[in-house]
Amino acid sequence: MVARLEPSAGVRWLDVATGTGAVAIRAAQAGAAVTGIDIAPAMIEGARAKAGGLPIAFEVGDAQALPYEDASFDVVTSVFGAIFAPDHRATAAELGRVGRGRLGFTVWQPDERLQELYGRFGQDTPEGREPFRWGRARYVEELLGPFYELSVEPRTWVLKGGSGQEIWELWSKAAPPFKARLAGMDDETREAFHRAYVEYCEGFPAGDGVAVPREYLLVLGDRR
Ligand SMILES: C[S@@+](CC[C@H](N)C(=O)[O-])C[C@H]1O[C@@H](n2cnc3c(N)ncnc32)[C@H](O)[C@@H]1O
Repeated sequence: MVARLEPSAGVRWLDVATGTGAVAIRAAQAGAAVTGIDIAPAMIEGARAKAGGLPIAFEVGDAQALPYEDASFDVVTSVFGAIFAPDHRATAAELGRVGRGRLGFTVWQPDERLQELYGRFGQDTPEGREPFRWGRARYVEELLGPFYELSVEPRTWVLKGGSGQEIWELWSKAAPPFKARLAGMDDETREAFHRAYVEYCEGFPAGDGVAVPREYLLVLGDRR
């Protein structure tokens, strides 16, 4: 994202739903004057710790009601972040309102193989959940198109690990939505889901381990 947006020194950059600041930190290292905002105070604490001495303004706040003036940022980004705010239209309007230059936004696309896997365990699919409505180019265009001239590129994110079990351990420890699913299963279902999930990951062998693909859209925009 940072490479594609090529920040010149001093550009005012807002990273929305910044999490632990992965994009904010890279943008600041590239010379941008960065603000990172996230609704979760624990994420912002993590971001501050990771940023070390970099002069990034990390703040707690909601993507649906950003506490900034109109047109106050040259670049607005959100990487698999603002899609999680429940009111999509309000979020899109805010990303438009505070921006005066470029937009960078990523959204997960629906994945039929994962839908089948979750469905087998009586789970609603992640794709049936609200954030994944963003995964259609037409929807992105409808919500963000009034503010930005958009380009939408289908891309693949690849999660690499030594084994399917390693990926399972990562997700079941580090991903809150995945953990919440597991917590809702009885022991037997959880164990069967565990085996099926590891088998799914092992279906993507690469070198000595696995490389599990997820499709997403990279959305870039210029403020109208
Ligand atoms: C998958 S993480 C992505 C974090 C970061 N952008 C990254 O790429 O590492 C999603 C983030 O969205 C944040 N988030 C969810 N709803 C939000 C909202 N309404 N406003 C701001 N942040 C929100 C969560 O707290 C979480 O940090």
